[in-house]
Amino acid sequence: MKLPWRGNIARMSGYVPGEQPGEEGFVKLNTNENPYPPSPKVRKAISGALDASLRLYPPPDSTALRRQAALTYGMDENRIIAGNGSDDLLAMIARAFVGEGGTLACPTPTYTLYDTLVAIQGGKVTGVPYPDDFTLPKALFRNRAPVTIVANPNSPSGTTVPLARLSELADAVTGLLVIDEAYADFADETAISLAREKENVIVLRTFSKSFSLAGMRIGLGFAHPVIIEGLNKVRDSYNLNRLSILAGEAALRDAAWMERNVSRIRRTRERLSASLPGVGFFPYPSQANFILARKADGGSALPTYEALKARKILVRYFDTPRLANCLRITVGTDDEISVLLDAMKRIMRLRKSR
Ligand SMILES: Cc1ncc(COP(=O)(O)O)c(C=O)c1O
Repeated sequence: MKLPWRGNIARMSGYVPGEQPGEEGFVKLNTNENPYPPSPKVRKAISGALDASLRLYPPPDSTALRRQAALTYGMDENRIIAGNGSDDLLAMIARAFVGEGGTLACPTPTYTLYDTLVAIQGGKVTGVPYPDDFTLPKALFRNRAPVTIVANPNSPSGTTVPLARLSELADAVTGLLVIDEAYADFADETAISLAREKENVIVLRTFSKSFSLAGMRIGLGFAHPVIIEGLNKVRDSYNLNRLSILAGEAALRDAAWMERNVSRIRRTRERLSASLPGVGFFPYPSQANFILARKADGGSALPTYEALKARKILVRYFDTPRLANCLRITVGTDDEISVLLDAMKRIMRLRKSR
């Protein structure tokens, strides 16, 4: 039977997330998860809620999480929205601002979920290529799309653009500017101040990276109350479950735990960055919990990706013209990075001896 799919859904392909191997024993450096566990206070908060209250729907506006976020980030509660991961917030933005034939502008390469969410709406992404140094492309400032998104730090490059440039971009664009700060806790700067100052900016955060809670699906958006009010219209009524709301609240209360892990990851990141040229890869400067590294001889990085996978080390390879000579490597523990570097050294030697 030929089902009556909407044309754009029939034509599009779904988002392909990074591999989650079923078997144990992989060194997993492919989806930018945090190698350290979440705060013990998160576990305590969740286990304390495993009772009869689970029969009740959660508070629709994630009250406790938003209240704590208001304290942590110094922002009024009516400027905060919670998402089932920041992907959920991105989906709300696409739903609310991109219609059939609509557009969304972003510098590329970037997080490819933006393409998928816009395709679901029947719209199109206007990608503006980053120059080689990953500064904001000038053409982005002239775009007239209803939504512009900048991931900062960007994925997969790990690079950042300065807050001052984002502020200029907010003034230049005619629509909404989304600043996707999934990795901002690993960086030197944040644009949260723009969510207070500008009426057309939303800043997104996730608990999946710095707070080690990818499995709980928690995200936050900060923006002018009018933006929050509009997004609430398209939000699933109970988008966060009871346990995620409590986990997010507890994680924010123990920000020191997160900050300690971030410091460790930043230290390991500098070590990885310094070591990559020795194994035949040049790192882009990263302020995230991963590094994009370009093969020094300019060739495809696919053979290295495959050789690492054969040794049960997973990194991310993107089969696109701009990224085919690169690997994106999540910053794991020091031990994991030692295993990776050792394997990369062996793979490089094997190639040379052939
Ligand atoms: C740039 C960027 N934004 C958002 C997300 C999604 O985060 P979440 O797990 O909160 O949905 C990711 C995940 O990898 C990401 O790289």
